[in-house]
Formats: sequence, C-alpha cells, structure tokens
Amino acid sequence: MVQPARSFIEAAARALMRGELVAFPTETVYGLGADAANPAAVARIYKAKGRPSQHPVIVHVACAQDMAAWCGDIPAQAWQLAQAFWPGPLTLILKRHPDVDPGVSGGQLTIGVRCPSHPVAQELLEVFAHLKTQTGESRAGVAAPSANRFGRVSPTSAPHVQQEFADLVAHGMPVLEGGDSEVGIESTIVDLSSVDQGGDVALLRPGAISAEQISAVLKVPVVGHQASSPRVSGALKAHYAPSTPLALCGSDALASRVSAWLSSHEGRLAVIARDRMSSVPPRVVEVLMPGDAGAFGHELYATLRKLDELGVAGALIEQVPDEAAWAGVRDRLTRAAAAFEGDRAAD
Ligand code: TXA
Ligand code: MG
Repeated sequence: MVQPARSFIEAAARALMRGELVAFPTETVYGLGADAANPAAVARIYKAKGRPSQHPVIVHVACAQDMAAWCGDIPAQAWQLAQAFWPGPLTLILKRHPDVDPGVSGGQLTIGVRCPSHPVAQELLEVFAHLKTQTGESRAGVAAPSANRFGRVSPTSAPHVQQEFADLVAHGMPVLEGGDSEVGIESTIVDLSSVDQGGDVALLRPGAISAEQISAVLKVPVVGHQASSPRVSGALKAHYAPSTPLALCGSDALASRVSAWLSSHEGRLAVIARDRMSSVPPRVVEVLMPGDAGAFGHELYATLRKLDELGVAGALIEQVPDEAAWAGVRDRLTRAAAAFEGDRAAD
C-alpha cells in the first residue's frame, strides 16, 4: 500500500488544528474530516458535502478510552463492543457528553463514535490527539462523514475523493493516500444510547460486523431500525446512488429482464452479476462481481462509480443472497436502486 510520509500526516493534523478539512482513508470508506471540537470546522464539512445540518456525523477517536471525552453515561456494553471490535468498522451511538457542542451530532442528544483500524487513520488521529494535548485541550476527535457529496456513492480510494471534491483539492485540502478501502462499505452502526434505561441494542446500519457478532458479544438480541431510533442519513430510502439508472433483479429473472430492457431502450446496458451470462447479447456490458460477500463489498462502490464512466444507459444488478453475511451489501444495493424507483431507464 502507498502510505503518505509522516511529514504529510503531521501537516494534515496541523490543518485539522487550524479548522481546515482533511480527507483520509479508513478501512470502510474515505472520510472528510474536521476537528470535532471546532463547530466552525464541522460546519465546513456540511457545506462541502451539501449535507442537511440536522444529519449527525461520526467522531473518530484514536482509542476506546477517548470515547469518554465525547460521550456521557457510557454503558458497560459500549466498552465490551469497543474491546471486541475496535479499532474496526463499528460505530457506537451513545449519549452525547454535556460539554460537547450539539452541532457535531446534528443537534441530537446522542453522538456517534468510532475508532478506525486503517493505519493512516490511526496515525492521523494519534498525531492530532498529541497536538491537542500540547495545547491543553482534553478532547481529541475527528468528525468525518464519508468523503462524498450528499446522497452519492462513498469513496473507497483517494482518486474517488479527488473526483468528488476537485474544488477543495485545488484549494489545498490534503487527501491522505491509503490505497483501496479494505471493507468498502460504511461501518456497522449500533445504537446503545438507551440501554441503561432498558432500551434495546439496535442496528441502525448493517456493515461488515454483523448483528449476530454484536449479539454474541453482548448476549442480548439486536433489534433492527426502530421508529424511535435516532436519524441516520444512510438510512434514507434512496442513498449511495450513482448517476446511471440502475435496478435490482433476482437471479432467475435476469435473462428475461435483460431482453426486455434491450427491446425497449437505446444504448448499452451494464449487467452486474456474480456469474457469467451464458451468452452476452450485443449492447450488453458484463460486469463480473465476486461470489463472496466481503470481496463484493470491497468492490461495490468502485463498480458503481465505474458505471458512470462506462457511459451505459442503464444497469441491472443481480440481487445478492438474503443471508446475514450479505446484509450490508444488500442494504447498499437496495438504497442505490431506490433512487431510481419508477425510473423506466433502469427498468
Ligand atoms: O464507515 C464509516 O462510518 C464512515 C467512515 C468515514 O468512518 N463514515 C460514514 O459517515 O459513513 P457518514 O456521515 O457518511 O454516515 C454516518 C452515519 C449517518 O447515517 C449518520 O446519520 C449516523 O452515522 N450517525 C452519526 N451520529 C449519529 C447519531 N448521534 N445518531 C444517529 N445516527 C448517527
Ligand atoms: Mg455517507
């Protein structure tokens, strides 16, 4: 993996200290970071992404102990999950510490925290925490949503970020290089904010760490998204969408859907599937995906971005298995396709 020089990471940490934005790699997707303790810097993230201000961002910390600076009344379950899965692709929703500015959590009483495992993210967070300590500040955290414009596909490589934010990069925003994100889809989000009042442990966003894994550590059931659950922008029905219209299709119906599309549309159609088609009709571009859920997730967003570059008129994606290991990928595919529901170009 290409890794930025230490001096570049230090320069990025100093940019964060000045309230500037920095894009950095994580094992899930690339993040657009700002000093979480600086409301003006956090506001810059919202402006850059075009994200509504009531949508909260995740605070990234260097180690589990640092969660205490951002969260109040931390339940034992949070420490258990941190011990089992951090650093790693898991975000915990907890009560916001009373001294933390509400802006970082979209005005909510809760806050999302995560300790990422990517070595570049770790190094950036450690250097940043060190600089904060030197200035006598007790709270070190980097607020970072995925480094994409609101509603679009998350970036899983530095060039993706450079495409999304060419204007900011041209104005000097550092983009730390960290290779292709290993996991490729965003962290699992688990809400623990009401467990101390007898509330459920709720899965707000599926990801590489499954509900079953969480449940096995906590020894309680993990419930799905509740009406009372905190807002999650990734939980909007339509999200993660490329510009190319796309539709999901069961494996059995794929061949007939391809024929129907070709007879009613001009241009080319991309077919994204886990097996080769028995014969590839003219005007069809076959895009082969891995049969393993982890490998599929790793490639998913780069594939969706490539769709836009292929110049196809539409895309059909073969539905993935309805199994726990595929929950994260299935969720992202469903939301990407939902952006085009009722759109004949993808149908
Ligand atoms: O893998 C990830 O989590 C990546 C990397 C960069 O760490 N970040 C990411 O951030 O996916 P973003 O902003 O694209 O998605 C964060 C999700 C949003 O859906 C947001 O609503 C939810 O986390 N979230 C953050 N704080 C929350 C809170 N206090 N309550 C409920 N949801 C929260
Ligand atoms: Mg996002």
